[in-house]
Amino acid sequence: MPRKVILDIDPGIDDAVALAMALFDPRLEVVAVTASGGNVSPEQATANLQTLVGLLDPPRLPRLGAAPTDTVWPAKPFNMHGPDGLGGIDLPVARLHSGHVSEKVIWETFHAYPREVTFVALGPLTNLSRVLTRDPAIAELIGEVVIAGGTAHGNGNATPVVDFNFYCDPRAARHVVREPMAKTLVPLETTGQVTFGFELLDQLPAESSRAGLILRAMLPHTFRAHRQLLGSEGISLHDVVGLVAVTNPELFERSTVAADIETGGELTAGMLVVDRRTVRQWRPNLDLLTGCDVEAVKDCILRGLAAAGAGT
Ligand code: BDR
Ligand code: CA
Repeated sequence: MPRKVILDIDPGIDDAVALAMALFDPRLEVVAVTASGGNVSPEQATANLQTLVGLLDPPRLPRLGAAPTDTVWPAKPFNMHGPDGLGGIDLPVARLHSGHVSEKVIWETFHAYPREVTFVALGPLTNLSRVLTRDPAIAELIGEVVIAGGTAHGNGNATPVVDFNFYCDPRAARHVVREPMAKTLVPLETTGQVTFGFELLDQLPAESSRAGLILRAMLPHTFRAHRQLLGSEGISLHDVVGLVAVTNPELFERSTVAADIETGGELTAGMLVVDRRTVRQWRPNLDLLTGCDVEAVKDCILRGLAAAGAGT
């Protein structure tokens, strides 16, 4: 039976690639896709999500959630995704209607399938934190949470020690990390192990498929942004590796750790702090994916992209 997932995204090119793969992966049943601001404003994130799902037109249409618009974030330190989040490509607008804000969709989905749903967080943790604030008892209904975020050794991308997702909403990250439910964290060091060179562009689905059209239009921007902003010829697709951690957990090394998130530091707000003392004082609260089989993960991604093309 396919695994039920909610994808919570802030699209974002790597979010969009993960979405395209998830919607056509027979091992997953994407019951809802919910937007949050982050890479782009909440309004833009909602519009991107609706456009992407509308254009991809998957066989089973998930419920869609709109990003909450009353969120305030720190200044964005960089933008890897272009002003519109999808590399400035001119996508035909195929907006679907979504009358509900993400937290309502998430709450209803957990209630509809108690303990069956994996929440896949590929953006700031704002939405899940809000759901838990409104209804703390819902933690018991959540199957598992897989989070692409954090940095295990303090090699950040938003600040020297913080990854972009935790940087956007440190309080939400702390809230979710402290909750007593099964959690897996895929930190930046692990997602960043998997890089692609320009040959990826030749391995994308054909432009005659809907997924191919979108991916071939978006991904050149990611190569340009990596070269211009990071001085790197290869690209990372962090959220896509986060998705593979859901579909192929056997490809990752894991360690159960006791972790928390800094919320107050002037230089460190959003930093993942792991209790590595000889005698640990904190209780273990999540599984940290400390590494992966890089070639096998890349292979999964290429097969996922091909499946997205075949399905569209
Ligand atoms: C995260 O930052 C965002 O730009 C990506 O979409 C990813 O979720 C990595 O730190
Ligand atoms: Ca993201």
